[in-house]
Formats: sequence, structure tokens, C-alpha cells
Amino acid sequence: MALDHRSVFRASVLLTCVIICSNVLCPVGAYLYNNRYAGDQVFRITPSNDEEVRAVKKILGHIKVDLWQPNSISLIGHNATVDVHVKRNDTQGLHARLKQKRIDYRVFISNLQKEIEKQTGYRSSRKRRSESQYDYEVYHSLEEIQSWMFEINRTHPDLVTMFSIGKSYEGRPLYVLQLGKRSRPQKKSVWIDCGVHAREWIGPAFCQWFVKETLGSYQYDSVMRRLLNQLNFYIMPVFNVDGYHFSWTTDRFWRKTRSKNHKFHCRGVDANRNWKVKWCDEGASSHPCDDTYCGPYPESEPEVKAVANFLRKHKKRVKAYISIHAYAQMLLYPYSYKYATIPNFDCVESAAHNAVTALYSAYGVRYRYGPASTTLYVSSGSSIDWAYRNGIPYAFAFELRDTGYFGFLLPESLINPTCTETLRAVKAIASGLLKKCETNRDRFPYI
Ligand SMILES: *[C@@H]1O[C@H](CO)[C@@H](O)[C@H](O)[C@H]1NC(C)=O
Ligand SMILES: *[C@@H]1O[C@H](CO)[C@@H](O)[C@H](O)[C@H]1NC(C)=O
Ligand SMILES: *[C@@H]1O[C@H](CO)[C@@H](O)[C@H](O)[C@H]1NC(C)=O
Ligand SMILES: [Zn+2]
Repeated sequence: MALDHRSVFRASVLLTCVIICSNVLCPVGAYLYNNRYAGDQVFRITPSNDEEVRAVKKILGHIKVDLWQPNSISLIGHNATVDVHVKRNDTQGLHARLKQKRIDYRVFISNLQKEIEKQTGYRSSRKRRSESQYDYEVYHSLEEIQSWMFEINRTHPDLVTMFSIGKSYEGRPLYVLQLGKRSRPQKKSVWIDCGVHAREWIGPAFCQWFVKETLGSYQYDSVMRRLLNQLNFYIMPVFNVDGYHFSWTTDRFWRKTRSKNHKFHCRGVDANRNWKVKWCDEGASSHPCDDTYCGPYPESEPEVKAVANFLRKHKKRVKAYISIHAYAQMLLYPYSYKYATIPNFDCVESAAHNAVTALYSAYGVRYRYGPASTTLYVSSGSSIDWAYRNGIPYAFAFELRDTGYFGFLLPESLINPTCTETLRAVKAIASGLLKKCETNRDRFPYI
């Protein structure tokens, strides 16, 4: 009895502390990420001619910036906006230089720390830690996502298989959920990965949403039932597990993996520029400290190698590869490394058209779509080029919401609409696989 009283007392003291700390009274230590983004700003710069492009490249090259869009200085072009996160000590200088050159710009986020606190300040008091009901409308830590995967595997033995395809650089398991009725083992399959780039948190949120919705609607949604009966879905909710964990605990805007470079003091490789297609060509950097570093050699990252091995092994069955990124509101397909038309263009183009139409039908959000090279920019081979070259006829990269207002800090209140509309698009692509699309088999025999 005495013990009970004591633990009740301890619990109430703890609760009081939590309540105090979730309000304004907390001292410096309570700031997220040690207050490292205080005073930092996000600029949107719009250079309108070649001269201004050169000037912007030069200005940004001189200060250490975190590019949000595009993701490398070499990809800055005219009439495309540049979103850039600038450290507080550099903001005044940047304002002055842009004004002096009369380059069009505005400040999108005037205090990055405040924006982060506004969005995640109530973390502790939320039901995110509740065991009974998983909350799909908040962002989750890697540990929470992995426990959730075990739970999904445990509670849906008829439709779900869970396995690991390898280990990350820091030794974390790379888990995949396989969804689908196990009636026919050689079913056509769809691969979906999320969280290749650490800071794009809406990606993992979508993968979880997709699993929840497909399993939850199996009983009453005939389209979903048909998809799960006739296809297998391989879902990898967090591809870059080490990077995601780092962005959760230490640096919200971390993008790369966490592998160590022995010559430099910086870590990580851009997991989408580590594939064996036109490796380290345009738009990628060979400098280890850059955000678009392609790595010491193709598939140097254990996460990329594990996914590549898995897809090589199952390429006969995998008919669609889908990679979820943010942000830009685009649906991209190959090629990204060259201006050329893919052999099965008509089929892929029509799948993309159906997908963005389905997406639009939810809330009227418009996505641009097309070959990555012309829609975004030419860049060295990404995972969609690699998947396509390895015989997966439908390879897509989604760039989810938004178009830069919140950028990587998409608020949790937008998880639901973003995932709802994206689910429609993915469903449309998957449904398309059940129909026949005629392609020139001489040129593309493995479709
Ligand atoms: C860039 O935008 C300006 C002003 O809107 C326009 O006159 C020009 O043609 C555009 N250039 C390109 C290449 O789109
Ligand atoms: C910013 O400037 C202040 C004062 O000049 C200096 O103490 C601080 O170390 C600088 N911070 C960074 C991140 O450079
Ligand atoms: C998934 O659940 C099955 C039992 O239904 C179990 O045998 C298997 O080990 C689980 N997978 C993982 C990765 O825990
Ligand atoms: Zn990305």
C-alpha cells in the first residue's frame, strides 16, 4: 500500500513538471534542437535572367547555406525560385546583397526556430505516446515507427509480412512491410519507399498512412481489396533510418545518410545520388560536405545497396517503383539524367496523368508531372532511373506538398489532406498495373 501511495505521488510530481514544461516557463534547455535555428531565415529568391542567376550563385556560394530548393547551387536557373535557409549571422548580408543587385526575393520564414517550436512545441502533451491508438496525424520518431510496424505485423497476420532487408550504416535494421493476400506467390508487386531524404518527414508519414488505409479499407473498399488480392506492396516507411533519427534528435534539416568520411569532418551521402546510373554526373557533388554528395562509389551506402539488392532479386515481379519525396508538388518519371523519351512513354505518361487527376479530385491540389529531366532538371541518375534501367516499367518519384510556404516544415495539420490525396494517386498507379498497356515489345521486351 505504501508503495502505491509513493508511486502515485511520484507520478503526480512528474505530471506537474510536464505541465509546467509544456508552457512558456521552461528555460533555455527546453528549446528544441538547443535553439540552434534562432534567428535563421528562409529566403525565396527569384532570379529573372542569366546575369541574376550568376549573381545568386556567386552570393550563395560565399556563405554557408542550406539549400531547400533546388538542392544544389549548380541547379539554379532563371525563372525558377530558390528557397534557401540562411544562418542568423548571414541574413543581414544576404538582404543587402540581393537589394544591391535588385534581385527579386522575399523572406518566407523569418525565424526558423519559432516556426519549429510552433509546430512541435506540444509534443510531450500529445497522444503521440499513447499505446492504444496510433496517431497518424503527427510525425513520429524512428522508434515509434518501428514499434508501430511490429504492431501492424502482429495484428494483421493474414495480409502483412514484415522483414528486414539489411542494416544501416549505424546498424539499424531496414524494415519492409509486405502487404497483400498470400494466395499467389508470384504476384505482380509495387515497391514504395519513403524517407530517402531525412528531413522530408511527410514521406514516412505517407507510408504509414498508406498501410493504415489499405489494411483498414480491405473489408469494405472493393478497389482496395482487388489491389491487395492481386498485387503485393512492399512498403519501406523509412529508407534512410540513420538520417531520419538524426533529423529528429539533432539537426531538423539533415538530408543525407550518416556514413563517416575518413578525410573530412562531415558525414553522409545523398541516398538518391548513390545509384549506379550516370553516377555522380550533373547535379551531384563529389565533395563529401555537400548536401548532394554522391558517395565514394555507387551503392556505397548500405541502405541503397540493400534496396538495390532486394529489387534486383525481385525485378521480375516488381512492376512499379515509387519513391516519396518532398517538396514541390510534382510527379516525375524517367529519365532524370538525360533529355530523352522512355520507350514505354505512352503507358507511363498516361499512368502519371491518371495519378495527378486522382490526386486533384481530393482537394483540387495541382501537381506538375513529366520526365524528371524536363519537369525538374537534369540530374545524375536517381533511384527512378536505376529502377527503370533494371526493368521496372513504371518508376515514379513523388514530390509531395507544399510548394515552399512551409517547405520541409509541413505542419502536422496537413498530414491528413496530403496523404489522402497522395493515396488516391498511388491507388491509380497500382490499379493501372491490372490493366494492359500496349508498348513496343521489340524495344522494351521485359514489360
Ligand atoms: C522568364 O520570365 C520573364 C518574366 O516573366 C519572361 O519575360 C521570360 O520570357 C522568362 N524566360 C524563360 C526562359 O522562361
Ligand atoms: C554569430 O555572431 C556572433 C556575434 O558576432 C558570434 O558570437 C557567434 O558565434 C556567431 N554565430 C555563428 C553561428 O557564426
Ligand atoms: C511478424 O509476425 C509473425 C507472426 O505473425 C512473426 O512470426 C514474425 O517474426 C513477425 N516479423 C517480425 C519482423 O517480427
Ligand atoms: Zn527528397
